Amino acid sequence: MWLIALLLLFISFILLFSLVASFFAGAIWSPTPMKTVRKMMEIAEVKPGEKVYDLGSGDGRIAIAAARKFRATSVGIEINPFLALLGKLKIAAGRIGSSVKFIWGDLYKHSLRDADVVAVYLSPQGNKKLKKKLTQELKRGARIVSHRWRFKGWAPTKVDEKYNIYLYVMGESDSGE
Ligand SMILES: C[S@@+](CC[C@H](N)C(=O)[O-])C[C@H]1O[C@@H](n2cnc3c(N)ncnc32)[C@H](O)[C@@H]1O
Repeated sequence: MWLIALLLLFISFILLFSLVASFFAGAIWSPTPMKTVRKMMEIAEVKPGEKVYDLGSGDGRIAIAAARKFRATSVGIEINPFLALLGKLKIAAGRIGSSVKFIWGDLYKHSLRDADVVAVYLSPQGNKKLKKKLTQELKRGARIVSHRWRFKGWAPTKVDEKYNIYLYVMGESDSGE
């Protein structure tokens, strides 16, 4: 009995720790509704074979939809180990194969040089911190599709007010800076 109690205590501690960690890292987990995920991919005009990154991938829904419905190759990066594991389990359970990959880690530490599309749903602070990295690493013409939060100082090329989606294109949206 005490072993189960100890195990539950340990799991609660890890869960709490990862929640606090992702809060301080930039955003806590709040999944994008599936309808909005689909809209994000449509607005970004994701094409078969393109490389899509979901930065802060949560349970992996954006990366999985990009691969399944839009035939992209996708990578989700997630700091919360439980969510990163959930994404991996979804790949295994859905027999999705090698077109989706989940990385447990800090999104600010992974290269995005091969990205065609970057999807984000972070926070105003998270987007602010990410701007420099996107400017330095993304190729001209790469698209950034953000749910809910704008990138201050950049001009979105498309805005969907209903779904709260902002699209940015490198070389266009950031040219005023
Ligand atoms: C608002 S949720 C969005 C999840 C998913 N992208 C979606 O739209 O359903 C933000 C996610 O970013 C993760 N996150 C926050 N900071 C991070 C960081 N520095 N590196 C990786 N993941 C991070 C959080 O753990 C959380 O799961």
